[in-house]
Amino acid sequence: MKIENIKKEFPIFNNKIENNDLVYLDSANSSQKPLVVVDRIYDFYTKEFSNIGRSVHYLAVAATNLYENTRTAVQKYINAKDKNEIVFTKGATEAINLVASTFGQKYLKEGDEIIITELEHHSNYVPWHYLRKNKGIKINFAEIDEHGDISLESVEKQITSKTKMIALTHLSNVTGAILPIKEITELAHSKGIPVLVDGCQSAPHMKMDMQDLNCDFYAISCHKMYGPTGLGILYAKKKWLDDLPPYQGGGGMINEVKKNDISYGELPNKFEAGTMATAQVIAFNESINFLNKIGIDNLINHENDLLNYGEEVLRKNNSVKLIGNPKKKGAVLSFTIDGIHPHDIATILDEDGVAIRAGHHCCQILHDKLGLTASARASLGVYNTRDDLDKLNESINNCKKIFNK
Ligand code: ALA
Repeated sequence: MKIENIKKEFPIFNNKIENNDLVYLDSANSSQKPLVVVDRIYDFYTKEFSNIGRSVHYLAVAATNLYENTRTAVQKYINAKDKNEIVFTKGATEAINLVASTFGQKYLKEGDEIIITELEHHSNYVPWHYLRKNKGIKINFAEIDEHGDISLESVEKQITSKTKMIALTHLSNVTGAILPIKEITELAHSKGIPVLVDGCQSAPHMKMDMQDLNCDFYAISCHKMYGPTGLGILYAKKKWLDDLPPYQGGGGMINEVKKNDISYGELPNKFEAGTMATAQVIAFNESINFLNKIGIDNLINHENDLLNYGEEVLRKNNSVKLIGNPKKKGAVLSFTIDGIHPHDIATILDEDGVAIRAGHHCCQILHDKLGLTASARASLGVYNTRDDLDKLNESINNCKKIFNK
């Protein structure tokens, strides 16, 4: 599949947005969907639909097999050791909540410490905050440097004898920093501390290899990976999934239910209570096929070219201030323009069909640290082109004219 022609795989680009061609630069928020994924959802509901894992009729067995095929496809895509290390959740947020809640229940007590970073989006802060409120744990923040980056040393500084978990993003959705996860994991493990990685932003843009990263938990958001909404993935080492208690109770996750006792199902069922997002899971197999057809190396080269080009264009544009200059950077261009509120920038760009996000991007702590209440952010996907970034720049110039900047 040729990356230059990839836009035509995404039906959304056939539509005009108020007479403009769509320049979609909000993929860090959610990516657009290729037709193969949309078609797969339609086909499943119109030709193959059944609930999974319960009935023995033809449709139920076939749907269960399709659902499990996606688990195997995900296992291969992220190079997990075992297919039962893949748990489907309703989103990356639920994946992190699952770990915080079950790990907290089993292993944390008052005074224990968790390390997160100042880069985290709310999904990797609020679940730990609940444990601070309910269990009296302490949250320590690894601090960013002046480039919006997190180093191994900044995490190391926060480790104490009470540290029970390090939970951190792989790729920042604001500064674009790519964190040295493998090194952090090595350090953490040498002190007996497990590591949870929030892979919301990295999974759509980077090569995934759980065995190489060696982290304990990894949360993935499928709707940012050209997949359906309402679906996330928790990768967890099997020893943790065997060890931790179930997160939610209900049908599908039990073994035996008696009036005075309940035993829980084996993996993967133990963490998949109730009717799952079956159509989304089955369609996500198409997202993985789609990414495999492009080839991760081609995708990385394409997006790196766009990122470098976008930075070059925006750096030349007077008064645009880029946020973050980390050592290794991925797919986001966050910026401010003196004297124009980011929401005004986004609204004016929208009039030209240029879709970006403005606000705190679910990272209020980071924005506080940067002395900002909000920023504007253009984020990249596989369908973007250099032309999209030229249009972004032109539209920023229109905006500056309106505000006499
Ligand atoms: N969805 C969030 C973003 O836009 C976190 O980065």
